[in-house]
This record gives sequence, C-alpha cells and structure tokens, in this order.
Amino acid sequence: MATFPTLRPRRLRSKKLLRDLVAESQIRKDGLILPIFIKDGIDNPEEIKTMPEVYRYPVNDKLINYIEESLKNGINKFILFGVPKIKDDLATSAMDSDGIIQKTLKLIKNTFGGKVLLITDECTDEYTSHGHCGIVTINGSSYKVDNDESIKLHAKIALSQAKAGADVIAPSSMMDGVVGEIRKTLDENGFQDVPIMAYSSKYASTFYGPFREAAYSKPAFGDRRGYQMDPRNLEEGVREVYLDIEEGADIVMVKPAHTYLDVITRVKQSFPCYPLAAYHVSGEYSMLKAAAINGWIDEKRAVLEVTNAIFRAGADIVITYYANKIIEWLNEGD
Ligand code: PBG
Repeated sequence: MATFPTLRPRRLRSKKLLRDLVAESQIRKDGLILPIFIKDGIDNPEEIKTMPEVYRYPVNDKLINYIEESLKNGINKFILFGVPKIKDDLATSAMDSDGIIQKTLKLIKNTFGGKVLLITDECTDEYTSHGHCGIVTINGSSYKVDNDESIKLHAKIALSQAKAGADVIAPSSMMDGVVGEIRKTLDENGFQDVPIMAYSSKYASTFYGPFREAAYSKPAFGDRRGYQMDPRNLEEGVREVYLDIEEGADIVMVKPAHTYLDVITRVKQSFPCYPLAAYHVSGEYSMLKAAAINGWIDEKRAVLEVTNAIFRAGADIVITYYANKIIEWLNEGD
C-alpha cells in the first residue's frame, strides 16, 4: 500500500478552493430555523438578560420588521414561543383563539403569507402557573404530571395553533403518546396536511436555563426529570424517536444539540429516511455568547464550527438563535 511520501493528505488542504471541493459536510442554509419569543403586553423589544442580543418581541410592526430583515437575509423558517400575560393551572391562554401565539400567527401570515414557514412550539410550561409541561395533580406533599389528561390538553392547544395558521406543530412536552394524540386530533379536524416536528429525544438538560428566564417558565416546584430524558441515556433516545415515528411524527428532533452529538449520529443512522432536527439550545447559545463578549473565543469561527458539527453529526435541520448571524458570516466568507 502506498504511503508517505507518495500519499500526502496535506495536498488537499493547501488551498481554500481545494478544501471547499472536498468538504464532507456543510451548514445547510435551508435547514436553519430561528426561534422567536413573542410577549403579550409590551410595545418594544426587550433584550433577554441571560441571552444577550436575543429579544422578546411585541405583536406589532417591530416583530414584522425583524421578520422582514430575516427574510432579506435568507432566513424564512421560524419557531415561535409565546410569553402570555395570564397563566393558570390549565394553560387556558395557550389555546385561546386570541392568545399570544394565535395573534402572532395571524399577524405574520397576513403580512408574509407563504414566504415564511411558521412552526409553533406546543407546550404548557409558559402558560401554567406551576410551569410544568402538562396537568399537575397535587397529593399532599407530592405532585404528579398526569400523562393521559395532559395529552388531551396538548392536542387542543395544537389544534388551536393549526386553526390560527401554524404550518408545523412541534410538541415539546415529552408526554407519552402526545404525538399520536395530536395527529389524531389534527386529522379529525381537517388538518391532515399539517406536519408534526416532534421533540422526540429531549433531555432534562441544565442548558435550558436561559430559555426559562426568557419565557418565565421555570417550574415553581420540582423539576422536569420525571418526563424529560436522563442525560446518561443514548439507546433510550433512539427508542423515543422510534415511538414518535410510529405515532406519526414527520420530523424528529434531538435536543440539546452541541452536548448530544452522539445521539444525533445514532438517531440518523437508525432512521436515515426521517428528517432529523437538532436544537442548539439557549444555554449552548449563551455559553458561546458569554465567551465571545469576554473576548475569549472568536465568535464567528466558534459558531460556524459548532453549527457545522451538528450537521456533520447527522442533523438535517438546526434550530439556532444564531441563524441570522450564521447566514451573514457565511456570506462574508473567511
Ligand atoms: C418547552 C421548551 C423548552 C425549550 C424549548 N421548548 C423549555 C424546557 O423544556 O424547559 C428550551 C429551548 C432552549 O433552551 O433554547 N416549551
């Protein structure tokens, strides 16, 4: 077998265009999704303390301008998170036809129609006073998130989002059977063409911390380890994806992304024929941002390296707070 000095791997690294020619993976611009927080009752965007340069937007022209800017830049897919005025035990405001997400969907769709793809996060944690992802029953000093009652509630919220114009529903509660229940409800109500992007392998991660600050959704008691996955488990992540596919998920997801690259690879290899999304979550964003603000890393290079790593691991779609920046940096070149 030929070896050095006949073989010299460095030959293909010697010029930028040669490196580009043989690159094995890339950041797929069409696969980027930008998360947006929309808050009821404010007039101007508010910067989120734990996520510098990320804002909560009001439902008005400020939001429209932000979307317009993103569209010009080439970002046209958004996942929406609502921050409501009213919270209660049953997440009533999450399925109000005039709720924060429903109002937002109508405004954006009326303005941009088919130029944007609007995905709605479907959960109750931002809408409940207790901050859990379902219906809580309290028994003395202990509590339980009631799975089978919760999935009925989730299906109602999903239906109300579809009615208001959501293009894709993204259930993130990690309740058993929630994808099937939503699929059934959407189909029975004439929304058989609305796809489900399931948060399938969603880990109980500390990296959601900044998001919970952004959406005021930290649980008032307990934590989410009774429904989100144990970070020590890999095979269980594959099983969760399998179950969601069986229940009718069109796109599956691994979340977080940067800290779970092995899960992304394993899921892609197990289900190559399903589109796989990965969520570069708030804490993963904030770590990079904090280091960048302090001058400890080169933000552009770090973000492009991490995002490429998520695609290289096997993701087809990446949800990232850096979506607009990524496009700008890619357009700038080296
Ligand atoms: C639940 C939801 C969460 C995130 C997305 N959907 C919060 C949670 O599970 O606590 C986290 C996203 C992020 O950290 O960027 N509605």
